[in-house]
Formats: sequence, structure tokens, C-alpha cells
Amino acid sequence: MAESILFDKNATRAKQYEQLLPQIKALIEFETDRIANLANVAAVLKEAFYFLWVGFYEFKSDELVLGPFQGPLACTRIKPGKGVCGKSFEEAKTIVVPNVDEFPGHIACSSLSKSEIVVPIIKNGEVVAVLDADSDTLNNFDKIDQQYLEQLAQIIAMQW
Ligand code: SME
Repeated sequence: MAESILFDKNATRAKQYEQLLPQIKALIEFETDRIANLANVAAVLKEAFYFLWVGFYEFKSDELVLGPFQGPLACTRIKPGKGVCGKSFEEAKTIVVPNVDEFPGHIACSSLSKSEIVVPIIKNGEVVAVLDADSDTLNNFDKIDQQYLEQLAQIIAMQW
């Protein structure tokens, strides 16, 4: 198993994603434990991009429940339709929020969070979890993050 992930800290974010994604795939493809894999994915994203918070909410019974993450403590349960996570879950679509104060119903786990992206993880047509990343700067996420984090969500879904 890889002991570390290599990437060029000075490269564009797109290049960094291109360097990281194959390594993340290699890191998780032979490990069957979901918590271990999600924990490592959160760690890699946090180390690469210095997100304020990055992690997972898994759909269990009837709500999203906090999974592995990196960053400050977060709310543990989110109902479908609530907040950015619940909306992304309900719509099975990525949501990019340039300014969380302008997103109706945004759930503020940390007052430092300014922008956010939530990407659904879809297995056999069902959203099984969401990947959530928060930043302490406005407009931190764009189409590039969406494109690559959606690819990452597909890699994660293969292990689900
Ligand atoms: N802001 C999210 C809640 C989760 S935390 O950001 C970790 C939301 O509105 O769904």
C-alpha cells in the first residue's frame, strides 16, 4: 500500500486533481473497508487543498449521518432536503455554493465556512452518501472541483 501521496503543490488545482485521482484509486481499490477508505480520501483532500472541512455523510435509514472527515466537529445528522448536503442528496446533483450566506437553509457547522461544494456518491442509481467540502474563503469551488470531485465520487462508488 502507498505510504504517501505525491503531488505538485504549486500546480494548478486541475493538475493536482489529475495527479491525485489515480493515486486515490490505487489507495482504495484493494481495501474493502469503507470507513478506512473514506478516512484516507478525506485526509488526502485536506492535505492537498487545505479545505476547512472535508468529509462524508452516509445515507442511513432516512437521514444523512456523519462519516469520516477532516476538520472541525460537524453536525451528525442531516435530513434529506435540508442544507446543501440534504439538497444535493435529494436532487442527486452536485451543488456549488460560492457564498454560503446566500444559500437558503445552509447549515453552518462552522462560522468560518464561506463556500462549499457537495457531490453525491451514486451507486446503482441511488445516492448512498455525499462528499462535502467547505472552505474559509468565498468562491473557493468551481467547475474544475465539480468535474474532478464527481470523478472521485465514481471511484468511491465502485467500492461501495
Ligand atoms: N454546510 C452543510 C452541513 C455540513 S457541514 O458543512 C460539515 C450543509 O448545509 O448541508
